[in-house]
Amino acid sequence: MTSIGILGAGRVGTNLADALSAAGHRVTLGVRNPEEATATVTAPHIAFADQRTTARTADIVINTTPGDTSLDRLAGLRTELSGKLLVDVSNATRDADDGLPGDLCYPGSSLAEQLQTALPETHVVKTLNTMLFTVMTAPEILTTPPTAYLSGDDQNAKKTVTGLLGDLGWQPAWIEDLGDITTARATEAMVLMVPHILRRHGFKPFAVSLAR
Ligand SMILES: NC(=O)c1ccc[n+]([C@@H]2O[C@H](COP(=O)([O-])OP(=O)(O)OC[C@H]3O[C@@H](n4cnc5c(N)ncnc54)[C@H](OP(=O)(O)O)[C@@H]3O)[C@@H](O)[C@H]2O)c1
Repeated sequence: MTSIGILGAGRVGTNLADALSAAGHRVTLGVRNPEEATATVTAPHIAFADQRTTARTADIVINTTPGDTSLDRLAGLRTELSGKLLVDVSNATRDADDGLPGDLCYPGSSLAEQLQTALPETHVVKTLNTMLFTVMTAPEILTTPPTAYLSGDDQNAKKTVTGLLGDLGWQPAWIEDLGDITTARATEAMVLMVPHILRRHGFKPFAVSLAR
């Protein structure tokens, strides 16, 4: 059992919290208003805390907050995140007029690289940002095997994340380690596909995957 802190209790955060908790991990959701969340979210197996406390007390921290503001927010948690594994599943985009992702916040770089630079004592691993949130915890629902890409500088950190992906139902053949953290700029750029898929097909489960 691992102690996992998830920052952000939105679609991605609550979905991952439920699945990782069901897999036997001790999960805390880090939210802006813990009292309100405790009162409104019926999840007796999941604890709620503010984001700083969550980052301080968890062994592994998952960022599921809005990507366009994540850098400042997580850089402000440098002490709490020191020595830890940070799994970043967010996408740092500027909205198009219809509210869907329109453009990248860090062209020529990536949020993951910016986070790794801002948090030198933390092992950052990028993953799961290339699919609808429902697929993250149920990859078997797609008719074509999906891909979960991994980007990160530390092999052990990526091994740990591979284990967590296995707990979420990801088969080893579906996990593609692309290399160091700079490879995240490729998977973060894949988000530019997403608004076009959503406009054509709605919020049906999908993943941007590697076919062989
Ligand atoms: N939705 C998807 O299918 C999908 C797929 C891949 C990647 N992503 C990425 O995953 C991230 C989360 O997506 P989502 O769909 O779950 O978004 P969401 O439903 O809007 O949830 C984001 C959560 O982050 C917290 N938050 C929002 N603003 C914040 C702030 N200023 N400071 C601290 N916390 C804040 C909020 O939780 P509290 O109010 O509880 O604090 C909010 O519920 C985004 O970066 C997105 O690009 C989403």
